[in-house]
Amino acid sequence: MYHFLFPTGSTPNEPDETFLDQYAAIIRSGLSASLICDRVLTGVDVLRNVPHGSTVVYRGWMTTADEYTTLVRAIDSAGGIPLVSPREYLGSHHLPNWYSLIVEFTPETKIVGADADLVAELRALNWGSYFIKDYVKSLKSRRGSVIHDPSDGPAVVEELREYRGRIEGGICIRRFEDFTADSEVRYFVLRGIAHASSDGHVPDVVRICADCIPSPFFSVDVARRQDGVLRIVEIGDGQVSDIVGWSATEFAGLWVTSSQPR
Ligand SMILES: Nc1ncnc2c1ncn2[C@@H]1O[C@H](COP(=O)(O)OP(=O)(O)O)[C@@H](O)[C@H]1O
Ligand SMILES: [Mg+2]
Repeated sequence: MYHFLFPTGSTPNEPDETFLDQYAAIIRSGLSASLICDRVLTGVDVLRNVPHGSTVVYRGWMTTADEYTTLVRAIDSAGGIPLVSPREYLGSHHLPNWYSLIVEFTPETKIVGADADLVAELRALNWGSYFIKDYVKSLKSRRGSVIHDPSDGPAVVEELREYRGRIEGGICIRRFEDFTADSEVRYFVLRGIAHASSDGHVPDVVRICADCIPSPFFSVDVARRQDGVLRIVEIGDGQVSDIVGWSATEFAGLWVTSSQPR
């Protein structure tokens, strides 16, 4: 049996607004869910209302490695079985962990420390155009993550630091690839089975990810390059990816059709 944890928002007894429709769809589908406040993620509060022996799925905001480890301990203490272990969470949440498993299907990437001499690294790569992010997120400001001149690299990192409060892990310098606008599609892989929204087609490259990424639940984002080749843009932990392209009802359906937990 699956049990879902949704974060509370400004009202303690309600899911955060962002997750309200997913919470409702999960309950409508006959699955169980309860709420978790962020004090559980920092170890201040204990977790309650988890059915004993249920397989627990977190459905909320991205967490740091420490927060996720604390969450998993809280689930254990509450008598639940976490679907995704901390190691599996970081396996799909942090780019360097999944990148090495699917190098030929995703833009070439050089990973450097947050304090590396970025300009020198970019010059040495000499790729012409570069996409810069940390281990989990790109820069969503107007400047964006794409640069053409290596001397612009440090400013992107500074803005990333400013917007997100810190650099998570290190810096990923990705070779720019020309993706067709609006071609990106999100797939979810649950227990090795890849799913598309609205019963859409699952491309082979997603099945390859389903076979080689060692996590029971993750997202796969695929974009079509101008030459027609489908490329993996990003892998993410499924618990903290948003459901872009999926309705809440479709997302809940994923769990209903999934094989029973081991
Ligand atoms: N190497 C790349 N070349 C060109 N565009 C990219 C590249 N990597 C990502 N993008 C574009 O930027 C968007 C955000 O990048 P992504 O890696 O998914 O970061 P985030 O974690 O912020 O979603 C992608 O949806 C894609 O459109
Ligand atoms: Mg993305």
